[in-house]
Amino acid sequence: MASLQEQIQQYEQEINSFVPANAAELEDYRIRFLGTKGIVKMIFGEMKTVPADQRKEAGQLLNGFKILAEEKYESFKSLQASAAAKGPAIDNTLPGTPLPLGTRHPLRVVENKIISIFERIGFSVATGPEIEDDWHNFTSLNMPQHHPARDMQDTFYVSTNPDWVLRTHTSSAQARILESQPLPIRVICPGRVYRNETISARAHCFFHQCEGLYVDKNVSFADLKQTLYYFVTEMFGENTKVRFRPSYFPFTEPSAEMDISCTVCGGSGCNLCKHTGWVEILGCGMVHPNMLRNFGIDPEVYTGFAFGMGVERITQVKYQVNDLRLYSQNDVRFLRQFQSV
Ligand code: PHE
Repeated sequence: MASLQEQIQQYEQEINSFVPANAAELEDYRIRFLGTKGIVKMIFGEMKTVPADQRKEAGQLLNGFKILAEEKYESFKSLQASAAAKGPAIDNTLPGTPLPLGTRHPLRVVENKIISIFERIGFSVATGPEIEDDWHNFTSLNMPQHHPARDMQDTFYVSTNPDWVLRTHTSSAQARILESQPLPIRVICPGRVYRNETISARAHCFFHQCEGLYVDKNVSFADLKQTLYYFVTEMFGENTKVRFRPSYFPFTEPSAEMDISCTVCGGSGCNLCKHTGWVEILGCGMVHPNMLRNFGIDPEVYTGFAFGMGVERITQVKYQVNDLRLYSQNDVRFLRQFQSV
């Protein structure tokens, strides 16, 4: 009986660690353990050598062994059957299915470029709310009620509150900085702005701006010109020329508009520059003394410059996008073109 027990234990170990690599190995197993001359039969034959008083115990042992041997066989048999039903195994050497990868929106690409150019010369980024009050969007920027310059921008008013507008420029964020930050101030304010325009290739009811503000002692128009010249060469390349034309903004005096030499034709004349050789890209000027006073800053001690550009405009000039509507139509054929820029 003792040796029968030992034999069974040994076979059980063998069965427990058995894993067939293929159907032939499983068949060998079946013949070895469960065949007509197999181990299970053979062990059952040993029963007759067991003394009568131990037969019951030995019978249980043998039955357990038989079940173990059979279950092992059945489980691998069904595994192999279901693997065969699934067809050939997966070919791991095939290339994987590519994961679709999104791309940055062109306006975001250009906005990020603008930000990084100005960050390199010490400007930090400030943002503000898109629903603004009259003070931050107009009055504090030297545009009191009924000032004719308010008509330069067609404004959306918020119907529930006559004091609220959808900001028409990000100068409103600059007003908030002037009111809350200590001097000197050197910020750029990127963000979305709204104007009541009919949507066409050249105008949209919302677009994006990036405005800049620098207020400190001894800030001059020469600083403004040099800062913007640096921006242009970084954004459009070293050979780009700039020119300033006198202009008018209520919050700057003197004011100017800046043109760059046409990025498409280089100055010889094309559709982008309307055959003038120049394209306008931004407005700028020295911060108006009234505006500084509105924020308790003495214009005799401090001066500053400000500039504002449209991100769509910069993108149009840089990548020759000729229809503003493309930016908000979500056509991936258009958007994907900016994958590598
Ligand atoms: N806020 C002006 C606009 O939206 C741009 C600007 C900003 C002009 C700062 C001069 C100085 O058109």
